[in-house]
Amino acid sequence: MRHMTDRYAVVGNPIAHSKSPQIHAEFARQTGQDMVYERLLAPLDGFAKTIESFRSQGGKGVNITVPFKEEAFQYASNKTARAVAAGAVNTLKFDEHGMLGDNTDGAGLVRDLTSNLKQALAGKRILLMGAGGAARGVIGPLLAEHPTALLLANRTLDKAQLLADIFGQGMQASGYKTLAGQHFDLVINATSASLQGELPPLPVDLFLPGALAYDMMYGNETPFMAWARQHGAAHVADGLGMLVEQAAESFYLWRGVRPATASVIRMFRSA
Ligand code: ATR
Repeated sequence: MRHMTDRYAVVGNPIAHSKSPQIHAEFARQTGQDMVYERLLAPLDGFAKTIESFRSQGGKGVNITVPFKEEAFQYASNKTARAVAAGAVNTLKFDEHGMLGDNTDGAGLVRDLTSNLKQALAGKRILLMGAGGAARGVIGPLLAEHPTALLLANRTLDKAQLLADIFGQGMQASGYKTLAGQHFDLVINATSASLQGELPPLPVDLFLPGALAYDMMYGNETPFMAWARQHGAAHVADGLGMLVEQAAESFYLWRGVRPATASVIRMFRSA
C-alpha cells in the first residue's frame, strides 16, 4: 500500500497569525512523527464544509480556533467529558468511528501553571476573570486541582452566575466591585479586554504574597500584566505556555506521543 503522510490543520477565521503550524511542526520533528500540519481559513458560514473537505482529502484531525469552537462542539459526533464541560471543542480527531471532539485548553493552562510555572493549585485562592468561552474552557480542569476557592468575576454578573450554576458548588460568581477586600494567590485574565487595550477594574490590594498574575493572551505585555507588576504580583506570565501545552495535549490525542514543550516555549519566547 502506498504510504501517505498524515495531515492535520488548524481551522479558524482569521487564521494567518496562528502559531499552531510551527508548534506542531516542531513537535513532529522532535518525536519523529510523519505528519504535516497546515492552516485552513474557513468562511464564517462554511465551517462544516471546510472540515468535510479536509477529511475527504485524508485529513486525520484539526485544531479549531476563533470563532468556531462552539460550532465544532455541535459538529463532533463524540465528545470527551472535558469538551462537554467546556461547551466547546478545540480538537477534532477523525477515525473510522467518526469525529471525536476534545478540549485541551484547560489541561494546557493547568499544565503550564503547575509544570512550567511550578504553581501548585491545591489549597490556593484563584480569581478567574471573564465569563466567555475562554473562561468556561478552563474551569473544570482548574477545579480538578482542588483550589480553596475559585471565584469567577465578570463585568456582566449574569454570565458569571450562569457558569457558576453549571459547575456548581466548587465556585462562586461575582462582579468586580465586590472584589474589594478579597485576596488571591492566582489571578487569571480570560477576558478579551486586552484587545481594546483595557483591563478589568480591579482593587489595588488583590494579590497575596507570592501571587501569580496570568494572562491567557500572549505576544505583547497586556495592560493587565503591566498593572499586576505595579500592584504586587510576585510573578507575571502570559499565555504562550498555555498555547504550547494545549497543542501538546492535542498532539498526544492524535499521535499517542507526548512531545517535550519547554524547548518549544523557549524557541517562541526568543523569536
Ligand atoms: P472569549 O471566547 O474569548 O471568552 P467572549 O465570549 O466574547 O470571548 O468573552 C469575552 C469576555 O471578556 C467576557 O467575559 C467579557 O465581559 P462581558 O461578559 O461583561 O461582556 C469580557 N470583557 C471584554 N472586554 C472587557 C473589558 N473591557 N473589561 C472587562 N471585561 C471585558
